[in-house]
Amino acid sequence: MNSNKNEVNHAPMGDIVFFNPISTYRRKTIGGNRLPRRNRLGLTPQSLLPISHQYVSIYFSLKLWGHMPTEDEKLYIVMMGLPARGKSTLVMRLKETFVKNQIPTRVFNNGNIRRRYRAMNTSIAEFYNPENKNAAELRRRFALTNLQRAKEFLTNNGQVAILDATNVSRERRELIESYLTDHPILYIECINQDREILQLSILEKVKTPEFANFTHADAIYEFRKRIEYYEMIYVPLKEENNYIKMDSLYNRILEEKLVSSIPLYSRIRDFLVTDVVKNLYLIRHTESYYNVEDRIGGDPLLTPLGIGQANALGRFFEKRKISYIFTSKKRRTILTAEPIAKRQRDCTIIPLKEFDEIDGGCCENMTYQEIREKMPEIYSAREADKYHYIYSGGEGYATMKPRIEVGIKKAFYLNRHADNIMIVGHRAVNRMILAHFLYRREEDVPYIYVPQDKFYHITATQDRKLFELQEYD
Ligand code: F6P
Repeated sequence: MNSNKNEVNHAPMGDIVFFNPISTYRRKTIGGNRLPRRNRLGLTPQSLLPISHQYVSIYFSLKLWGHMPTEDEKLYIVMMGLPARGKSTLVMRLKETFVKNQIPTRVFNNGNIRRRYRAMNTSIAEFYNPENKNAAELRRRFALTNLQRAKEFLTNNGQVAILDATNVSRERRELIESYLTDHPILYIECINQDREILQLSILEKVKTPEFANFTHADAIYEFRKRIEYYEMIYVPLKEENNYIKMDSLYNRILEEKLVSSIPLYSRIRDFLVTDVVKNLYLIRHTESYYNVEDRIGGDPLLTPLGIGQANALGRFFEKRKISYIFTSKKRRTILTAEPIAKRQRDCTIIPLKEFDEIDGGCCENMTYQEIREKMPEIYSAREADKYHYIYSGGEGYATMKPRIEVGIKKAFYLNRHADNIMIVGHRAVNRMILAHFLYRREEDVPYIYVPQDKFYHITATQDRKLFELQEYD
């Protein structure tokens, strides 16, 4: 029996309401749960039927309903959050997961209706000014259109309707609640306070066709102003019955409230906190002048061999779609990424400081040999416990961990719904990224093999984990 009170099992139902020990089924009305009548032992009349009779009930139920979702399994998911907070990315991934699990799901995006509306320029910030009554009414109508479509979808064969819009005002949510009364509503509020990420997200937003008629600077201004207008009417979720507040950058649940039973709830929660990656290409920068000398840190350039390796990487990835390459701020990673980006149709290199190599502090720019000879105590202390050792004035593997985690989160957030993600990092950085997905023992992490003539291909989904070292030349 299912121990989670929010999980509704997928037991098919005919006219006969039955209860059997392997399939808990809850009948529900809009006002609350209507459970099958049970005796003092918690058994329903049906569960007292001989097993063979129960299977007959199941058989006929299956015959009657096939795999159509029952009324109790239908759900509205209503997104909530300021623009550029990762709502649509999350929605795309959620829909994909549901559809893969044979759960008929459709997304209703207000922005898509708005963008098709030609009678007014809806890209300018003034369209979002709460004082602009005409525009407000128009936005309300776009929302209503989607509410109608969503309702229709669930009335037919749909199981989950996801309403993707800002929905930041209580007034808008009242409209939603007054209209969608036939199935439960679960709100998901996306929150992200990271300024750098917001800035990067805005830079991506203004590349979309919606801003094609603006200069780059004007597009950024208009989009920021649009956010300000939404902030003016923003009322956080509180009085709504069922909701999850999400830190959409860190995939963390900040708050939950459940008043009624929500279908698929535990699946949704698991999905929200899971890092899913279809294809992560983890590359170490190619040979640098410091590599040749066995020198650590610094900001060296690539050797001719390194440049040749970077070109070979470019050729290797030519046939795979890479939209973003995340690097460190160091030249050797950016120079490795450039020939790869050049062979892609539309690829952006995003340097993140979080992926900078371990800071060697007092040993920066020295060779390992020099450290051994001039600072033997440092050399042996590091050998004794490489994971926890911290270079004086610098970092250690252990202290790098939080920033690498932030880098991974940022890269995944910015990569949006693209299937492929590429990171060009450094030896220690890539070890930490591998450890993040591989769950390696701490003491083993500083010894993970990170060559420059091969890369790691990583797949990590809820049902598949793959790590392979591949050659590119
Ligand atoms: O390529 C050299 C390097 O990236 C150095 O910059 C860095 O200090 C070192 O590798 C990390 O590897 P280890 O922890 O094995 O010294």
